[in-house]
Amino acid sequence: MSIFNVELKKVIDDSYEIEIGYELQKKLIADINAGLGGNIKKYVVVTDSNVKPLYADKILELLISNGYKADLIVFPAGEENKTRKTKEYVEDTMLELGYRRDCCIIAVGGGVVTDLAGFVAGTFGRGIPFINYATTLLAAADASVGGKTAVDTPLATNLIGLFNQPEKVYIDIATWKTLPARQISSGLAETIKHACMADRKFFDYINDNMQAVFDVDDEVCGHIAQENCSIKYKVVMKDELESGLREILNLGHTVGRAIETVSEYILLHGEALAIGLMAEVKLAKKLGYCTDLDETLVQDILEKAKLPTKIPDYIDREKLLKKLYTDKKVKNGALRFVLQKGIGDVVSFGDNLYAKEIPESVAREIIMSM
Ligand code: GLY
Repeated sequence: MSIFNVELKKVIDDSYEIEIGYELQKKLIADINAGLGGNIKKYVVVTDSNVKPLYADKILELLISNGYKADLIVFPAGEENKTRKTKEYVEDTMLELGYRRDCCIIAVGGGVVTDLAGFVAGTFGRGIPFINYATTLLAAADASVGGKTAVDTPLATNLIGLFNQPEKVYIDIATWKTLPARQISSGLAETIKHACMADRKFFDYINDNMQAVFDVDDEVCGHIAQENCSIKYKVVMKDELESGLREILNLGHTVGRAIETVSEYILLHGEALAIGLMAEVKLAKKLGYCTDLDETLVQDILEKAKLPTKIPDYIDREKLLKKLYTDKKVKNGALRFVLQKGIGDVVSFGDNLYAKEIPESVAREIIMSM
């Protein structure tokens, strides 16, 4: 018998740029012409039925007119389609169209598209490069940046996926002009989350400039996009794989993700998150980390962003409590929550420890009060 030592120590550089700007389609093609992603000649543009006519068709046309082989793969819009079945559809279509390992995916859309396409890229041919072209505030604030890719399952959101970093992210603020107000609100929830956990000044800025966000004012939206990236990347660069610190980006999500699933996606991600932020500021207040004023400020800013702050009547509270246990922070069967400390900070519970075990009875009390 013998033993082989398989030495596979790795030094990986997954660094990439996030470019924030207006109408970046031509810039994307110029970057590809200049070698972004490694001089690849074949591109698959993955998008959804809403984004196809607005932005993805144009990107496909530019790729083809610049001499690349390119195809568009479109799936129906909506979180309910961020599934293994849709992933399989995209993969099978790519195989049928003749794509193999020498191609690159360009995800054009919101969080559903970038999450799903990034996951496809991570497993297709054991991994091909991908580029995110984000067309919603929610994708700009959270989903398209940071390298979390996933699909949902009937049990809960985002349970199956990969950490997989894109070659580059484009945040095209001009695309927010075609978003319905409800989608702007949804993206504002992730933005408000960032402010609640990391930056009181940004919280006040959002509060003071809320209408300008709905009006897609260039300067205000540019600032919002910059701040979201800056807050998120300070965390991701320290803890890409969520061994501790990155859990703070989960503020509001323990309850939020559970409500999103129990609502069967009647609620948009950001709407469910808003209710989650409200529940979790109440929890932080109960534990002495937030004041009555903090709770009021969070409620006011969410309402100003036209987001819900109460659990809708149609949500079965017992089902919701059970669903909390599908959260990825659950350890040894215990619920764990990230807790806001005032506005603009979170509680640290020790070295690289940012989530606290909370008895179900306490979570129950909060949920039943909402
Ligand atoms: N959406 C939370 C994170 O990226 O970690």
